[in-house]
Amino acid sequence: MSNATLKTMLIDSDELSRDVLKTKVERAGLQVAIERPHGIVAQQTIVEQKPDVVFVAIEQPIQRAMQSVDFARAIVPHAMIVGYSDDWSPIVERRLMQAGVNDFLHGKITRDQMRAVVDRAIHHASRPRQFDLDDDAEREDGRIIAVVGQKGGIGKTTTSTNLAAAIAREGRQSVLLIDLDTRFGDVAVMMDVKAEWTVAEIAREGDYTDRDLFRRRLLQHESGAYILPAANDYRSWINCTPLQLQELIRFAATVFDIVILDTPGTFNDVVGAAVEVANRVIVVTSSDLSSLKNTSLLLEHFDMRGMEDDQVMVTLIHGHGYEGPTMKDVEFAISHPVNREVPFDRNVAKAGQAGVPVVLYKPHSPAALVFHSMAEAITGQRFSFETTPEVRSRFFGVFGSKKQAQVTPAFRRDIAV
Ligand SMILES: Nc1ncnc2c1ncn2[C@@H]1O[C@H](COP(=O)(O)OP(=O)(O)O)[C@@H](O)[C@H]1O
Ligand SMILES: [Mg+2]
Repeated sequence: MSNATLKTMLIDSDELSRDVLKTKVERAGLQVAIERPHGIVAQQTIVEQKPDVVFVAIEQPIQRAMQSVDFARAIVPHAMIVGYSDDWSPIVERRLMQAGVNDFLHGKITRDQMRAVVDRAIHHASRPRQFDLDDDAEREDGRIIAVVGQKGGIGKTTTSTNLAAAIAREGRQSVLLIDLDTRFGDVAVMMDVKAEWTVAEIAREGDYTDRDLFRRRLLQHESGAYILPAANDYRSWINCTPLQLQELIRFAATVFDIVILDTPGTFNDVVGAAVEVANRVIVVTSSDLSSLKNTSLLLEHFDMRGMEDDQVMVTLIHGHGYEGPTMKDVEFAISHPVNREVPFDRNVAKAGQAGVPVVLYKPHSPAALVFHSMAEAITGQRFSFETTPEVRSRFFGVFGSKKQAQVTPAFRRDIAV
């Protein structure tokens, strides 16, 4: 793609600063086709125009600027998003990285800097696009299920670990759980296993074409599920491209019947890559307002990408004991049916502390029953629901591990429920 065909958008509420940036961008060789202030107008334009490159002013109020970034990332996952600001702060930079911006320019922007950004934008846009979700050739391989949700602490990892454990325990289909959480990948903590090889290492090396070698690099959980843990260092992810990840995931689907992908709580390149290769997507939502708003945006995004309704399973998880909106309220808010509802269940937190998925810890508890029914829907098989001896707490094993340092305050709060 040449720079002439790249649709470039600028989001900045300050006209003067917008003009300055526009001049710099154009001098570096990109035509700015669209200029908007932050807010709903910018969001509408992103939906209608689908820009390839988006420059976003990171100005006060930061929250509003971040909304523009998050929105662009969700609606145009392949766009190159560049934040720019007069100031720099580590908190803002971290937040931008988490939101999946491709570049952050701060302070005085030199001609060379801008030229480098434009070169990267051209390179970014010319990357090959991936195949459609209903590529028939993919269907013959194992099914790929992405577990996504636009917020942390809403039960994505709980869902993916329980589905993997339930399917593996049933024993009729092989299952691999890949942790793609670029921030706090905690599958290894929840399943109480230690990483040897991580996703980013295997994806980057790309020498896994031997199925046996690939299997040997994976961990096996006591349920029988195989696990590929996340890189525990944010930088490792930067060295591994979304394309490499997709190759890895597709290869995994030739080895396993079911591949489950756990993802982080913000829509970034990695989540976009996961959703693209997935045959089905489980959208996890909580019932609180910010989660509902983001869920609704995410569903709209999937709809626009032509995803069929039966590819999306919306799962409402009540991760808190207090009374919140009902399933009907939630369906109204997100304009989409809720396909599964996981009740608040103290056993989930207890199982989490024990490092055991609740489907093994208390297979007949209310939440475990829903996870079983989801696993049945994924595999297309009826499960036998045998009673298992309940697993004893391995509390100290989990809390003694050094991965515990990654547990977020929100996570701790939820454990204390
Ligand atoms: N149905 C439930 N009942 C009670 N607590 C739950 C339930 N589902 C999840 N939780 C708790 O919510 C917290 C966050 O879950 P987690 O799966 O790590 O979220 P995410 O992966 O979306 O960040 C965990 O402490 C978990 O035990
Ligand atoms: Mg998680």
